[in-house]
Amino acid sequence: MTSITLLQWILGALLLQVVTLMALAFVRHWQAYTALRTAAIKGGVELPSPAEAAPADAAPADADLPAWAGFRPFRVRAKTLEDAAGQVCSFELVPDDGGPLPPFLPGQFLTFRLELPAAQGNTAAVVRCYSLSDAPNADAYRVTIKRAPAPVQAAGSLAAATGAVSHFFHDQLSVGSLLQVRAPAGRFHLDRGQAPVVLIAGGIGITPMLSMVNSAMQEQPEREVWLFYGVREAAELVMLPQLQALAARHLNFHLHLCFSGPPSTAEPRERAALVHQHHSRIDVRLLRSVLPLKPYHFYLCGPTALLVSLVPALEGWGVAGERIHFEAFGPASIPRRKAAVSPPGLAADGPVAEPFAVTFASSGKTCTWRPGLSSLLDLAEANGIDVASGCRSGSCGSCQTTIRAGQVRYAHAPDHTPEPGTCLLCVSTPVSAVTLDA
Ligand SMILES: Cc1cc2nc3c(=O)[nH]c(=O)nc-3n(C[C@H](O)[C@H](O)[C@H](O)COP(=O)(O)OP(=O)(O)OC[C@H]3O[C@@H](n4cnc5c(N)ncnc54)[C@H](O)[C@@H]3O)c2cc1C
Ligand code: FES
Repeated sequence: MTSITLLQWILGALLLQVVTLMALAFVRHWQAYTALRTAAIKGGVELPSPAEAAPADAAPADADLPAWAGFRPFRVRAKTLEDAAGQVCSFELVPDDGGPLPPFLPGQFLTFRLELPAAQGNTAAVVRCYSLSDAPNADAYRVTIKRAPAPVQAAGSLAAATGAVSHFFHDQLSVGSLLQVRAPAGRFHLDRGQAPVVLIAGGIGITPMLSMVNSAMQEQPEREVWLFYGVREAAELVMLPQLQALAARHLNFHLHLCFSGPPSTAEPRERAALVHQHHSRIDVRLLRSVLPLKPYHFYLCGPTALLVSLVPALEGWGVAGERIHFEAFGPASIPRRKAAVSPPGLAADGPVAEPFAVTFASSGKTCTWRPGLSSLLDLAEANGIDVASGCRSGSCGSCQTTIRAGQVRYAHAPDHTPEPGTCLLCVSTPVSAVTLDA
């Protein structure tokens, strides 16, 4: 055998080894993928009901049942600034009655009732929801609040108000302040299955994701978790050191930061220290280029524009609707391939082509709702009818109103379960002539 033939044999053997190893790796990867996919289709490991998902002592048995009735007094135990821009603050809350702190599911929110200063020295009650931003623990609840800025004004127009409640939290509340708080609630929460998850947060939409990431890393450190966190610039990043420390500690947690704005002169050094950064909005093209092929569950929270673009795009990519979970921090109507199912007692989905008369009985007004118009709450307000509201997204229950006659349906299943015979105006539209007790 010549030395050339020997070399050819050695190279051939090496090549055979490489091909065999690659084939083995592919088979293993495919087996893992198929196992997860089969489980996802059967619902076996991925989508346990909230009651099955949580251990008995870790969450309420039924996510629909509040841990306490009505509002309960809580005190602010700590107040911490969380971003370089100085716009986001965390508040740690402990029960003032000294009683136990019920657990919650990561992703759920608290509802607050505040008395804000009003005209002539009076106060006015307002209700707002804020997501719990840490893993459940027996010690304190934490919410993380961004100052809602005044909208950009056209030249010459009157200055519009900045966000009332978020500024009240930032400017008027300090350690020791008392707050009225309703029990944790919400259907947008992480399950405790084994499936890999992709969390997508835009701006302050990071808050429920912080709770999800912290919970997953504490309770299921082996679980694969990806976080795509989009902001305009680095100064807006909330709890960046904590997120980076988690990513450094847990190989299964993959943190990707996405910047939609141009870097400011002060930023390049700050940004250079960040791993996995992208100079684009979060979109499916980015997700496809980064994520290995797996049957993920996607959780999204952020501004309406992010949800309106990404939810249909994920469906278009082939992600099943049951694996896309999202929450908007206000009114948002997300077009979906399969519309949300109406809760029992309310009209089923279907196109509505006719206008309907809506009578607000207590106000003595009858108005016309036309297809394409927004909610019954908007209709009431546009006609000068005084209706209580808070979240405007079916979360807080403030706009619950008795239906005297007729039928309505929901744009999406609301977080707050209304009492029988009532509806939440902020997410309702009529499917017949309706008489409301407002
Ligand atoms: C389930 C849920 C969870 C949430 N979680 C969080 C969270 O974790 N963190 C968080 O920061 N937020 C969260 N939010 C949003 C939060 O509830 C509030 O909507 C937000 O803080 C704004 O409330 P506000 O009272 O400060 O602003 P509002 O006074 O309600 O104003 C809202 C917007 O309208 C503008 N505006 C007010 N008055 C006028 C006017 N007269 N003319 C024109 N524009 C006006 C304001 O400038 C502001 O941009 C959540 C919402 C929901 C539904
Ligand atoms: S305003 Fe909160 S449920 Fe309608």
